Amino acid sequence: MPTKIDMAKFASFCKDMGFIYQSSEIYGGINGFWDYGPLGVELKKNIKDAWWLDMVRNPPPGPDGQEIRMVGLDCAIIMNPKVWVASGHVGGFADPMVGCKTEGCNKLYRADKVYLVDFEGGVKVGVEANSKAEAEAASFDVAKRSKKRLPPNPAPLAMELVGLAKDGPGIATVPCPNCQELSLTEPRAFNLMFESNAGAIQSEENKVYLRPETAQGIFVNYRNVLDSTRLKLPFGIAQVGKAFRNEINPRNFTFRSREFEQMEIEFFCRPDESMKWYEYWRDLRKTWYSTLGIKSDNLVPREQGKEELAHYSIGTTDIEYMFPFSDEPQELEGVAHRGSFDLTAHAKHSGNDKLNYFDEDRWNADAGTRTTNSFKEWMKANPPADEIGKYQFTPHVIEPSAGADRFTLAVLCEAYTVEELKDAKGNPDTRTVMRFHPRLAPIKAAVFPLVNKDGMPEKATALYRSLKPYFNVFYDDKGAVGRRYRRQDEAGTPFCITIDGQTLVDDTVTVRDRDTLKQERVKVGDVRGVIEKALTPGA
Ligand code: GAP
Repeated sequence: MPTKIDMAKFASFCKDMGFIYQSSEIYGGINGFWDYGPLGVELKKNIKDAWWLDMVRNPPPGPDGQEIRMVGLDCAIIMNPKVWVASGHVGGFADPMVGCKTEGCNKLYRADKVYLVDFEGGVKVGVEANSKAEAEAASFDVAKRSKKRLPPNPAPLAMELVGLAKDGPGIATVPCPNCQELSLTEPRAFNLMFESNAGAIQSEENKVYLRPETAQGIFVNYRNVLDSTRLKLPFGIAQVGKAFRNEINPRNFTFRSREFEQMEIEFFCRPDESMKWYEYWRDLRKTWYSTLGIKSDNLVPREQGKEELAHYSIGTTDIEYMFPFSDEPQELEGVAHRGSFDLTAHAKHSGNDKLNYFDEDRWNADAGTRTTNSFKEWMKANPPADEIGKYQFTPHVIEPSAGADRFTLAVLCEAYTVEELKDAKGNPDTRTVMRFHPRLAPIKAAVFPLVNKDGMPEKATALYRSLKPYFNVFYDDKGAVGRRYRRQDEAGTPFCITIDGQTLVDDTVTVRDRDTLKQERVKVGDVRGVIEKALTPGA
């Protein structure tokens, strides 16, 4: 488990360093929206680039050692609203929500996050939490804050998730988690899609939605991609882009935001091979996080129970991460077996009869068994459905759907380390270091002249300029070199390169490793190779 960290302190560190800022902060911020600062934007870009390189351009071979065919897409955020009717989002993309009716409180909660904690002596506390363990831990503070007198050595007698369970506690018996008044409304469905209008007039006809996932843009372009690329099954279409959800309770820093980015793959395959591909993607996606520095102990794949599955899914594995703000692992990515739900739904709603696949290879392989090689002619004889289905069918889809912001948050949490060390004089000292994997580190190397004289700045500038076209490098000539190292440790820079007196004699520099603190003398001409090696996937 990662060490618990104080999330408020951590958010303040992220702000001070330029990783993440609250959106529109000078106006008091806006709940559920975040901005990435100079270091954060590099970090998130490196995450998206690593995903694109490892999943789209260079995915590892498939289960039978075959090459994986992947292409990309970049779709509009606003699509024809009928897309969201067909996908089920207009009808069903809703969270059950309860609200507080007390004047001045009026807080809203997801009903599946509200717990009733029942103490000895009849004291009942309403708590908003992600799990029973969290609800219990929070209930003491909530009781204290609302001046409810708990018995000595209090232990909750019972704890119940309010949710929508018919046999659960009636909502009338649950105090509002904020004001603790008995004034929660009955749960209501709340659609999470943001609405807007396309055109000058605000009307039902002009109503559009900001996409709540990137996936549907892929499904509605399935035929375009097939026609323009002549891809054959199995193949994947990938997209990275913004998604928007009007979350009832954005929380835990960027974990649940209202605007976020997804990295999604829709992998189309033959129905009879779909389980093999489901397992392939589930295992590959978990491994990917580990190769980028997430300790496997902190990654927990969890097969969703039947009752949890989304309307489209035959099976889903959530890859969960032990975020340090929670006692239980939380979803980083979902790998879903979507069957043929989406292509079938879009074919039905759009009237397009081409959202299927004709297996030319299988058709040609069976040529000797028929009197005609024309599928159209063959169909006129009304062959049985299972015979047709051998050649023409709707592909099944495996969907690994990751959140770029969630993974950025996981990477920040995983990297954040406060170390106890000794300073140069042997006194106790602390060092904050972001142990990013070099591929993800916002700055790859910092270049320092040891002093600003004796030709060192010129040498350092020349090295900096020679590295700049290849990597994000940083030049720093301000303050003591020890301070400069510390600043780069906080930014997570894997290498610090110092130009000193020796450089002028033999053209070598010191390369300091962020994690081991070891310094190695390297020829100036070899510095680029040292950095490149650390950035090579799989290195
Ligand atoms: N197309 C399937 C889909 O969108 P999802 O589980 O709703 O599935 C996929 O979302 C991923 O998107 C999640 O695992 C998470 O990483 C990210 N995500 C979803 N909602 C989010 C939110 N409100 N804030 C940040 N990331 C979110």
